[in-house]
Amino acid sequence: MTSPKFLIVAIDGGAASGKSSTARALAERFHLLHADTGSYYRALTAELLHRGVKQTDAAAVRAELADLRLGTQIVGHSADIKIHGDKVREADIRSAAVNAAVSHFAALPGVRAALLPYQRGLADEARAGGFRGLVMEGRDIGSVIFPYADLRFFLHADPAERTNRRVREGQADAVAERDRLDSSRENAPFVCPTGAIELDSTHLPLEEVVERLARLITARLLGG
Ligand code: CDP
Repeated sequence: MTSPKFLIVAIDGGAASGKSSTARALAERFHLLHADTGSYYRALTAELLHRGVKQTDAAAVRAELADLRLGTQIVGHSADIKIHGDKVREADIRSAAVNAAVSHFAALPGVRAALLPYQRGLADEARAGGFRGLVMEGRDIGSVIFPYADLRFFLHADPAERTNRRVREGQADAVAERDRLDSSRENAPFVCPTGAIELDSTHLPLEEVVERLARLITARLLGG
């Protein structure tokens, strides 16, 4: 008997495009490990801000990153990042200060290089943890981290609707400005990867987005 196929699913999309909720639902439905890579960039940003490092001080950023120890705690289906052995608190990574700084830190090659092997390594963690696969969401998953993923999705949503989603969540977040910074950086810019399956979620309820992606995942699992 052959073992069931281990599936890698990449989901990219802009701020508040619905990728986290979608990825979480798919992880539960298909027993995949869920990696929210935005939370990793946020965690690194919170850590660097906490240490008083400025994004403009390349030498200080490099020095901090050289000494960085990353780990993972799997909670349910979620792969949560640990920095120097500590779990990162949600409140610390969703603050207005982190919202404002994260795209600047994420544009630094050293920051991206620090997270690249960590993110790829989560496929092994998923296998070791008995998951059927990995669903990873972010800005460069289908383009840089897993360009050969079994399925690569890209979620679009109207910028005004995305800003409203954040307001409804009670968050101060310059969604359009982060999109602009993320798309214009030199290193791993935020793009819709060639060949990705695109879906516009502006007028779709979350359940419908999940259903559409789930159908494609099921087809792939059945060998399609
Ligand atoms: O919460 P939201 O969906 O708006 O963003 P996020 O997924 O939490 O990501 C926060 C920030 O991290 C993004 O605006 C990017 O600057 C950066 N990021 C990235 O550069 N590459 C990724 N794969 C994921 C996030």
